[in-house]
Amino acid sequence: MSPDRLAFLATYWNGKASLEPLREQADVAKRIHTDLLRRLIERHLPGSPCTLLDAGGGTGRFSIQLAAQGNAVTHLDLSLDMIKIARTTASDRGVAGIDFIQGSITDLSTFPDRVFDIVLCIDSPISFCHGDYGAALDELTRVSRNAVVFSVMNRTSMIMAGGVDFDLTHFGTLKTVKNVFETGNLLVDDQLLQLHAGLMPSWHAFTPEELQAELLDRGFRPTELAAIGALSSLTNKELLLKLVDSPHYQDYLDFEEKFDALGSVLGGGYSGAGNLAIAAVRR
Ligand SMILES: C[S@@+](CC[C@H](N)C(=O)[O-])C[C@H]1O[C@@H](n2cnc3c(N)ncnc32)[C@H](O)[C@@H]1O
Repeated sequence: MSPDRLAFLATYWNGKASLEPLREQADVAKRIHTDLLRRLIERHLPGSPCTLLDAGGGTGRFSIQLAAQGNAVTHLDLSLDMIKIARTTASDRGVAGIDFIQGSITDLSTFPDRVFDIVLCIDSPISFCHGDYGAALDELTRVSRNAVVFSVMNRTSMIMAGGVDFDLTHFGTLKTVKNVFETGNLLVDDQLLQLHAGLMPSWHAFTPEELQAELLDRGFRPTELAAIGALSSLTNKELLLKLVDSPHYQDYLDFEEKFDALGSVLGGGYSGAGNLAIAAVRR
């Protein structure tokens, strides 16, 4: 990725950093999404303790807890402001030993091949590499010895999550969604930003079949695939708020895990960014 593009993305994510830890408080479905991802990660830890890279680790939603469990965690992010919050949170919680590094998932050349037992890249850093997502997948799989857990943008749920509304509002006809449907890519240029200043940076959204094939091509066998959080994203928020504090919550998560992994659900759900999750092991 070009230095200009990396600088642009770092600035964008720096601007989001202070809001990032508040997302779960603002949206109970986000909290459930996190709990489902935690369970997926736990199932794929190749041993305990293990060496782990949280790539695009943000404010430490996963890295801090995983380090608290005794794993040797490297937390890499493009945004220094994200890292600053993660560092402070870890320190406030008395969690030591996380190696914080600023860098891009498209270039992990400071790390040798297969140096981490498991590599995480959660909530769409791969998708935000847009045309360079292949380089990110090359690098993330190269540095993993045993396993990867990724979550990326889900192509059909991105279309359902507002793509059609956007096109009909601004163009009165389908425009961007046709290209997203065909290629997975949304190029957010000046023209689109003038129509809607709050758009996320350009992205690539995957189909489930495409994501599986990308990992198979890089020597990893998918073990789990889910439209993670699809069911809760479509459920009444007030009812979910009661559920998460009830004794029935774990039972609900058990059910949602089965539901979100159904072939008929894989392209669905409305929690746009990061709701296609995959875990895979080296063949
Ligand atoms: C939506 S946040 C997710 C953070 C974290 N993985 C989580 O699930 O809470 C996306 C993160 O990816 C980081 N990011 C985006 N592009 C990146 C890149 N090319 N290399 C490294 N980090 C990147 C951003 O700075 C941001 O912290």
